[in-house]
Amino acid sequence: RAPPTVLPGQARAAAPFSAMGRLVGLSLLGIALGLVGERLLALRNRNRLKASSEVESVDLPNCHLIKGIEAGAEDIDILPNGLAFLSVGLKYPGLHSFAPDKPGGILMMDLKDENPRALELRISRGFNLASFNPHGISTFIDSDDTVYLFVVNHPESKNTVEIFKFQEEDNSLLHLKTVKHELLPSVNDIIAVGPAHFYATNDHYFSDPFLKYLETYLNLHWTNVVYYSPNEVKLVAEGFDSANGINISPDKKYIYVADILAHEIHVLEKQHNMNLTQVKVLKLDTLVDNLSIDPSSGDILVGCHPNGQKLFIYDPNNPPSSQVLRIQNILSEKPTVTTVYANNGSVLQGSSVASVYDRKLLIGTLYHRALYCEL
Ligand SMILES: *[C@@H]1O[C@H](CO)[C@@H](O)[C@H](O)[C@H]1NC(C)=O
Ligand SMILES: *[C@@H]1O[C@H](CO)[C@@H](O)[C@H](O)[C@H]1NC(C)=O
Ligand SMILES: *[C@@H]1O[C@H](CO)[C@@H](O)[C@H](O)[C@H]1NC(C)=O
Repeated sequence: RAPPTVLPGQARAAAPFSAMGRLVGLSLLGIALGLVGERLLALRNRNRLKASSEVESVDLPNCHLIKGIEAGAEDIDILPNGLAFLSVGLKYPGLHSFAPDKPGGILMMDLKDENPRALELRISRGFNLASFNPHGISTFIDSDDTVYLFVVNHPESKNTVEIFKFQEEDNSLLHLKTVKHELLPSVNDIIAVGPAHFYATNDHYFSDPFLKYLETYLNLHWTNVVYYSPNEVKLVAEGFDSANGINISPDKKYIYVADILAHEIHVLEKQHNMNLTQVKVLKLDTLVDNLSIDPSSGDILVGCHPNGQKLFIYDPNNPPSSQVLRIQNILSEKPTVTTVYANNGSVLQGSSVASVYDRKLLIGTLYHRALYCEL
């Protein structure tokens, strides 16, 4: 079967497809295009990697950098009781790292404290800590109040989802399960919807680095969202340029997906059978990374990269900037989009996530530091 003809930004409900057909088609194209250089890739991707303008700085008065975070806090999730989890130390092909030899970890901050500190959670024996490379995270609270932490992991460049039980009595994580699946070839972010149930975004269709590069170069829009449960795994939305952050509305009716290279947020309605149907697309003028929900208002907070080129080609003298947007009433005809925070990189570089709890804001980054603000 020929590759689907999907217009940029037109993600759609999943349909059956032939992986083999795609692979063969792409290999042929790969041979044809194998000779073109990096320069062309940069040219072709310029509009996708760079949003229109540099950002004007927007300061917040009561902020400080969080002690102990120097090499990224890619994702942050906060429990209703104010305990925040941060995934730190992501190492990703093509991305800068300030601590390339240090394994990643999960930090916790109690936002109910007056001066919250970040402490590293101990992880149960038997889990391979040396290769821990956490990416997107999500929490789920079961009916018996058990807290599960879902972590996208890239041990040795592989793609797994690790499910942990959080044990508050000794601030530790008990490893329960490693999920691997052929429909999860390049997982980025995850939203848990049950004790072993989640939606996950694949930011690429392939797992092979060369094919990943090629599919991005060719702007194929083959990335997707997958639903996983112990008895059913299925593709539920596809056609994204590069599906990234994912989250769920407070009423649990809608799934939000950030398409980072298309500069879009998709609103998808969750069906009883967990399939997703597209409701609307919000176009923004920046690269949208992870999405979080303000529990007090239902607003969406987005960690954004105004200039992806600076993100991927790290230059300390011209660092990537940070930008946090707040989106109100996304389902309305005219959602309100405001800038909560913006910095040219002198304080914070490459913001990937922002999360609020009770007028306290945490801003995480792909590979730099993290900011704590009192609003
Ligand atoms: C749900 O999605 C699956 C996988 O794409 C598809 O096979 C199935 O027909 C869909 N179900 C409905 C009711 O749309
Ligand atoms: C993205 O980050 C937010 C925290 O700001 C978190 O709530 C959410 O779980 C993350 N996305 C997913 C689904 O992991
Ligand atoms: C960022 O802004 C500050 C002032 O807010 C300025 O001093 C600094 O030179 C700027 N840095 C870059 C890299 O533009």
